[in-house]
Amino acid sequence: QVAAASGHTVVLVDQSDEILKKSTKGIEESLKRVTKKKFADKPEAGAEFIKKTLNNLTTSTDAASVVHSTDLVIEAIVENLEVKNELFKTLDKFAPDHTIFASNTSSLQITKMANATTRQDRFGGLHFFNPVPMMKLVEVIRTPMTSQKTFESLLDFSKAVGKSPVSCKDTPGFIVNRLLVPYMMEAVRLFERGDASKEDIDVAMKLGAGYPMGPFELLDYVGLDTSKYIIDGWHSLEPNNPLFAPSPLLNKLVEEKKLGKKTGEGFYKYE
Ligand code: 3HC
Repeated sequence: QVAAASGHTVVLVDQSDEILKKSTKGIEESLKRVTKKKFADKPEAGAEFIKKTLNNLTTSTDAASVVHSTDLVIEAIVENLEVKNELFKTLDKFAPDHTIFASNTSSLQITKMANATTRQDRFGGLHFFNPVPMMKLVEVIRTPMTSQKTFESLLDFSKAVGKSPVSCKDTPGFIVNRLLVPYMMEAVRLFERGDASKEDIDVAMKLGAGYPMGPFELLDYVGLDTSKYIIDGWHSLEPNNPLFAPSPLLNKLVEEKKLGKKTGEGFYKYE
């Protein structure tokens, strides 16, 4: 959405036409929200902006057959290294030499994905934040193999889509999640110990620390499965780090498929 809205030609790839239809509808709805704000006094310009953006966007279920015409691939599939590496290996065969590959992973090592390809120097991380149309940040991750030219291209692309990039080494959680995820897990542990209600913890962090959402609201917003993937991955890397300890309550909710806003229930229930 943000790439298409900033004039880039985008092919959105997913596993089925049904998912792509749902994604396109989600993008249309999000564009309407952005437009309502950005073009408050100029509805005609807003309608033109939506039309232009959607014209920049096509869809496909076959990444290998569309990658030949791309300059940049941004992968945002399931947080599973084997599945990601399989995809990157295939794309590496069909993509032009100059094409840069980037992962939007929140928890996995970029270096391990780069090593699944023959383009380690043209590989990096581009980590966006929910909701991407609103959040201004992108973390640009360079591995020891990422070339200076690739790194600069990723910074330029981030600016071209209207974001403010920061750079970080290929370290677990990069900057934001390395600070945010332990904080959210500490909130869950505070609640698990019975020290405060989740409602009070959320109010406290909003009114006492000025955060736009409390930790439980944010966990539900990001998705409890995503948070669990992140913490489980770090726990396996550093089993003795108490900040990375799994939470029985989070595990239970994920097992019950209560994944947050997207499934209608997480820590809270949604209409
Ligand atoms: N698309 C387009 N516009 C959107 C939007 C979306 N998905 N979500 C919000 N907006 C815009 C709309 O203009 C909306 O107005 P509308 O409701 O009339 O359409 C406006 O924002 C205000 O939205 P809300 O009234 O729902 O609420 P807020 O004023 O609180 O703003 C928020 C929403 C920007 C999401 C704000 O609550 C916020 O900043 N929350 C924190 C988000 C955060 O911390 N994200 C990082 C998560 S970590 C992550 O993503 C990393 C990953 O790896 C885990």
